[in-house]
Amino acid sequence: MSSNKPGAKLRAEAAKVVDAVANDGRSLDVALAAAEENISPADRPLVRMLSYGSLRYYFRLRWQLRQLLERPLKARDSVIESLLIVGFFQLSDTRVPDHAAVSMTVEAARLLRRPKYAGLMNAVLRNFVRRKIAVSEPGNEEAQFNHPQWLIDRLKKDWPDDWQEILTANNDRAPMWLRVNQQKQSTDQFLAQLEAEGELLPCAEQAIRLTSPQPVDDLTGFADGLVSVQDCAAQIAAPWLLADGGTRVLDACAAPGGKTGHLLEILGEGADVTALDSDAKRLAGVRQNLDRLGLDATLVHADASKPTDWWDGRCFDRVLLDAPCSATGVIRRHPDIKLLRRNKDIPALAGLQREMLEALWTVLAPAGRLLYVTCSVLAEENEQVVAPFLAAHEDAREARVLHDYNISDLMRERTAGYQVLPGTKGLDGFYFAMLEKVSR
Ligand SMILES: C[S@@+](CC[C@H](N)C(=O)[O-])C[C@H]1O[C@@H](n2cnc3c(N)ncnc32)[C@H](O)[C@@H]1O
Repeated sequence: MSSNKPGAKLRAEAAKVVDAVANDGRSLDVALAAAEENISPADRPLVRMLSYGSLRYYFRLRWQLRQLLERPLKARDSVIESLLIVGFFQLSDTRVPDHAAVSMTVEAARLLRRPKYAGLMNAVLRNFVRRKIAVSEPGNEEAQFNHPQWLIDRLKKDWPDDWQEILTANNDRAPMWLRVNQQKQSTDQFLAQLEAEGELLPCAEQAIRLTSPQPVDDLTGFADGLVSVQDCAAQIAAPWLLADGGTRVLDACAAPGGKTGHLLEILGEGADVTALDSDAKRLAGVRQNLDRLGLDATLVHADASKPTDWWDGRCFDRVLLDAPCSATGVIRRHPDIKLLRRNKDIPALAGLQREMLEALWTVLAPAGRLLYVTCSVLAEENEQVVAPFLAAHEDAREARVLHDYNISDLMRERTAGYQVLPGTKGLDGFYFAMLEKVSR
């Protein structure tokens, strides 16, 4: 791919990323990693920005595009539709000058070996600049709220008073949060030497919210394990699970190890943590993470829902079940979720979550605690998993009290468990339910 307009190549790469997500069902991370192999490190932030932004506003941009196209493009030319979306994103949401955005995007069509589209693209992009296409018409919720209709409908049902706020938060960019390893330094000490600006959140003593995101390699102390990157909502899990101690801990869906590291930082010397995951490649990431932090756990590659395959019969007194889920609470960080997830995935995920909860209950010691966590905002994966479980198990009760860990102002109480909604104090959307095993 060569051009006398270097910016054109970057637009072409971004279009390939958007097309891989929108039309081939690939994840943004995977598609972006493939694109980055073709571009210099200096150009990667721009391709990243174009890809993320185009996917973040995809539903609005695609609808606007369809208003301007006389007829749909052929399926085999879907990359041109993606390229036009990248073009619209630059024109409506960035400071790239209009003339540069138009000319480089048109040139990118040639690099994508579709020169016959150059004329059409030029006309459509210029038309977009001329006519501001409003998206606020009634009956056009996908474009107006920039989400798939099935998800808008579910949020309306589950969050009748908050759904618009959730959709707005999902369309925002997420802040970067750090978790300070308190074994090594206090949060105040770390903040004092941080070269970036950050602020503390009163309810999570180890969390710092950076005023502007930084590449991890530039972060003071990252390589030495003084600090990790983790959203503040995810940082709630480990201290809550260990609020009353805990000696033998199972992190049942551990990879890539964000919460495993936090559990170990809190437990300190002699911690007995088993970190289990069914994805071997992701589990290797846990080892890398722990090595950076100078911590250790027993890593197990297994299916958490089949304890007979991996359990030695010794009960755990704390279990963290950070279940695989729709990730509808972290759309700000992963805008591709809006395109990849389908309505029919939700009952399938809920089935898996129920199965895991049932299985892991059997490895929990009497008087032990299990924290069920998802990064979903959908009731079907959250309280509708936990409430029936509680009703069906005489030896299970919910520990409703949030201890002295001051998180109650962040959380919405549900019929079972608590929900942090995305955007609340800058946090991701997470659901938590603490279950206790009682003797009857
Ligand atoms: C939400 S992620 C966990 C994030 C992790 N706790 C952290 O804080 O970094 C869910 C994980 O569950 C794993 N998983 C999915 N199905 C599983 C199963 N049946 N048994 C064990 N792990 C599973 C996935 O591979 C994925 O790594």
